Amino acid sequence: GIIGYTGNGGDVLDVLMNGLSGLEYRGYDSAGVAVTDSSLAIHKREGEVSALESAVSDSTIEGLAGIGHTRWSTHGPPSDANAHPHTDCGSRVAVVHNGIIENYQELRRELEADGHEFTSETDTEVVPHLIASALETGADREEAFRAAVRRIEGSYAVAAVFDGSETVYAARHESPLVLGIGDDGHYLASDVPAFIEYTDRVVYLEDGQFARVNPSGIVVTDEQGAVVETAVERVEWDPEDAGKSGYDHYMLKEIHEQPKAIRQCLRERVTELDSTVVVEELADLELSEPVQFVACGTSYHAAMFGAELLRERGIPAQTFLASEFGTDRVPIDESSLVVGVTQSGETADTMRALREANSVGATTLALTNTVGSSAARECDHVMYIRAGPEIGVAATKTFASQQVALAMLSSVLSAESSPAFVERLRALPDQIQQVLDESDARAVAETYEDSDAYFFIGRGFNESVALEGALKMKEITYKHAEGFAAGELKHGPLALVTDRTPVFALVTSERDAAKTLGNVQEVKARDAPVIAVTDVPEKVSEYADHVLEVPSAGPRFTPVLANIQLQLVSYWVANRLGRSIDKPRNLAKSVTVE
Ligand code: G6P
Repeated sequence: GIIGYTGNGGDVLDVLMNGLSGLEYRGYDSAGVAVTDSSLAIHKREGEVSALESAVSDSTIEGLAGIGHTRWSTHGPPSDANAHPHTDCGSRVAVVHNGIIENYQELRRELEADGHEFTSETDTEVVPHLIASALETGADREEAFRAAVRRIEGSYAVAAVFDGSETVYAARHESPLVLGIGDDGHYLASDVPAFIEYTDRVVYLEDGQFARVNPSGIVVTDEQGAVVETAVERVEWDPEDAGKSGYDHYMLKEIHEQPKAIRQCLRERVTELDSTVVVEELADLELSEPVQFVACGTSYHAAMFGAELLRERGIPAQTFLASEFGTDRVPIDESSLVVGVTQSGETADTMRALREANSVGATTLALTNTVGSSAARECDHVMYIRAGPEIGVAATKTFASQQVALAMLSSVLSAESSPAFVERLRALPDQIQQVLDESDARAVAETYEDSDAYFFIGRGFNESVALEGALKMKEITYKHAEGFAAGELKHGPLALVTDRTPVFALVTSERDAAKTLGNVQEVKARDAPVIAVTDVPEKVSEYADHVLEVPSAGPRFTPVLANIQLQLVSYWVANRLGRSIDKPRNLAKSVTVE
């Protein structure tokens, strides 16, 4: 994540350090800052922002402007040397970068042949050296910055400061950057939380644009250097949402925010007065079949749920992992509808898939939580899931909101609704609250915290929830966990099942309950402990060691409730094991590289 600041509104280092804390969800294996005065002061450390904080706490670093970075490693392991900012041999310029520079090896060889010495293994370090080379040929700072950016290929959001100058230069290509307009200064960052405590007025940079940011103003230019008119937008942000509100972890807070998140998602889209679903943003959206979903990680599981909802309504729908989506293999053309499900709206794999869909003329729809994100801006249509900011790396409330938004989308696309369907949706927030209030997940977690592995099984609408349950468990506990379509267990995975591998069985819909119960008996016969997550405890309890009960919400939505129980189990196992729940090792919330 990137933060930059120039102005008189506060101590530069304070603004940068606050910004980095607000960006830590984007990467946290190292962090650094560069503050410019007559010379550049650069501090960087492997580890979380707190490690950098201790490193800078004794020094007085004052300056005119500065940039900072939290890193999620792509090239070179986390280390002080590989942390950003990077600089040239003479330390005239400091650079931070998100993304991947695909031609960095070629550039590095060329620069080394010219006598440049490199001190890191990163792709980023070529940028300050390219800038320094251009300065040597007589270019001024801005020309040198632009010349360097022109040489790099790949994806980037990049920002630079020079010694003795209060200007921050920035450019973007396929990696987000947003400018903040404050009363006493200007900001730039990968995302709004980095500077929201100072200003809510923002300008989103587009791909191919450059920015020159000074205390007195910002100037945005295109690739040729022509000034571009920009629109200042105001972001809605409840500062309460950004804190932990007394919870030990953001994840637990966000799990408990799900009733509110779903209410926000449903607001004005389903009302008491009506039995229809009205999503105003989608008024012009037309159905074309088959509907193709693209997504990654948790959002992929939501997309599976969405595709199943459409198929249930007779609309052919397929789900693709965005990283595997390519127009050469996927049958899309200008008559296709491609739906990108992405909480952040910035995931590089998903953006690549959506851009490919746009390039063949398909209709694209972004289902996202992030207003102003790349997905929201580049797709033909956007539906916001309105979950509010999610800071914990493991997605929880955004998943539930995606499920609910996809249910509304299925109704809009099929032009079918019913009072019962709307009533089910409207009942969900209270039912989620009931699960949260009455859950025995903590006791289950304590019973099984030492297990070798965890398995999750479910069929129909529960399959995606089983996969999501396992993903959550691996992400935050670092334990082996796998989710399976219940019927598939016997075709191989059953070999892994022992008395030390609890199996979480999602047994919720009347249609599927009997078959899944058969699968439960298969694992019981292999001595595995079974935890049934169910709205029909009377049918299940004789086969299960534990029952996590949920209210009945019909075949489509009971799985949404079951997922809440699984979130809580993972949270409490991770908590008992002392894991870094909000910032699990090796992960980042928003992965803006392919
Ligand atoms: C990262 C996160 C996952 C997330 C995935 C997709 O890998 O660690 O939790 O599900 O990105 O994110 P998106 O913002 O596109 O939903």
